[in-house]
Amino acid sequence: MTDRELVAQALRFRENAYAPYSHFAVGAALLGRSGRVYGGVNVENASYPVGICAERAAIARAVADGERDFEALAVVADSPGVCVPCGMCRQMIAELPVGRVILANLRGDLRVMTPAALLPHAFGAAALPGKEPIP
Ligand code: THU
Repeated sequence: MTDRELVAQALRFRENAYAPYSHFAVGAALLGRSGRVYGGVNVENASYPVGICAERAAIARAVADGERDFEALAVVADSPGVCVPCGMCRQMIAELPVGRVILANLRGDLRVMTPAALLPHAFGAAALPGKEPIP
């Protein structure tokens, strides 16, 4: 699947974003090594901090379906530049293998980055001696 095809899927998911407070709809499409695509949207809440970003929603959906290894993650929103994941999402993206992160906007701008470039020096399992994740 091309990067633009994955962004097209993220755009379709974005139509279901629940963003009545910020009016900033975000769509994500996460391509698993199995070939399956998992969608995510931001889901806001009247208690603002309860809301979840599209990227983390997509990861949660994929993990719930048993997928933990990903080829790519596309994120799209109506931002002047490409939509970049927030810090919390960068940390969650860093937890599992993701080949590339495709950042996009409605104007067709595209930027491809690695998770490490998005979050250098990520906090990880190595900082938790004796608590390495059991695969
Ligand atoms: N948001 C995302 O879903 N992903 C991003 O990459 C940036 C921000 C959401 C959170 C909130 O619902 C809205 O966008 C405005 O911050």
